[in-house]
Amino acid sequence: LFTLIGVMLVGYLLGAIPFAVIIARRHGVDILKAGSGNPGATNVKRVLGKTAGNACFALDVLKGFIATILPRLLIADESALAFAILGLVGAILGHSFSVFIGFKGGKGVAVTMGGLLALAPLVLLCGLLIWVATFYTSRYVSLASIVFGVSLPLIALMTGSPGLLIGFLVLLAALIVLRHRSNIQRLIAGTENRFSKKDKPE
Ligand code: G3P
Repeated sequence: LFTLIGVMLVGYLLGAIPFAVIIARRHGVDILKAGSGNPGATNVKRVLGKTAGNACFALDVLKGFIATILPRLLIADESALAFAILGLVGAILGHSFSVFIGFKGGKGVAVTMGGLLALAPLVLLCGLLIWVATFYTSRYVSLASIVFGVSLPLIALMTGSPGLLIGFLVLLAALIVLRHRSNIQRLIAGTENRFSKKDKPE
C-alpha cells in the first residue's frame, strides 16, 4: 500500500507541474484566460506560437513518461505493469486537476502519449498514426485527440495487450472524451478552432 500511494503521489506531483501556465507566464500571458483557456500544448501553440507550443508538448510528454517509466524500472516483479499504470494515472490526474493552479488543468493527451511511450510503444505508434490522419483531414486538434483516445483500447485489444492495460485504456478514453466536452459542443456547433496555417501567430 505504501508503494501504491508513493507511485501515485510522485505521478500526481509530476503531472501537476503546469508547464503551459509556466511557459505562458514567461511570455506575460495567462493561458487560462487566453485562446481556448486550456492549459495545454495546443493552446500554448495557438496563443504563443510554434516554439512555445512544442516546448510545452515535449515537457508534458516527458512528465507522463517519467511518471510511468520510474515505477516500471524500480519495481522488478510482475506487478511492474500495474504500478507503471498507477504512475500514469497519477500523472494524468495531476495534469488535469493540478494542485498548483486551483485544481484546473489540461486534457491529458500529451501526458498520455508520454506514458504510453513507456508502457506500450506499439499502441502509441498506432494511436499517433490515427491522430495524424484525423488532424490532417480535419485540422481539428481536439477531434484528433478524441479519436486518438477512443482508438487506444481498441488498438490494445487488437495487438493482444494485457487485460489490465486494455481496462485502463477504456477508462482513459472515457476521461479524454469527458475532458473534451467543451470542444465537442463547439465541434457540433461548428465553432471549434481550426488549426490552419494562416492563423499561426508568428
Ligand atoms: O489536447 C487538447 C486538445 O485536444 C484541445 O485543446 O485548446 O483546442 O481545447 P484546445
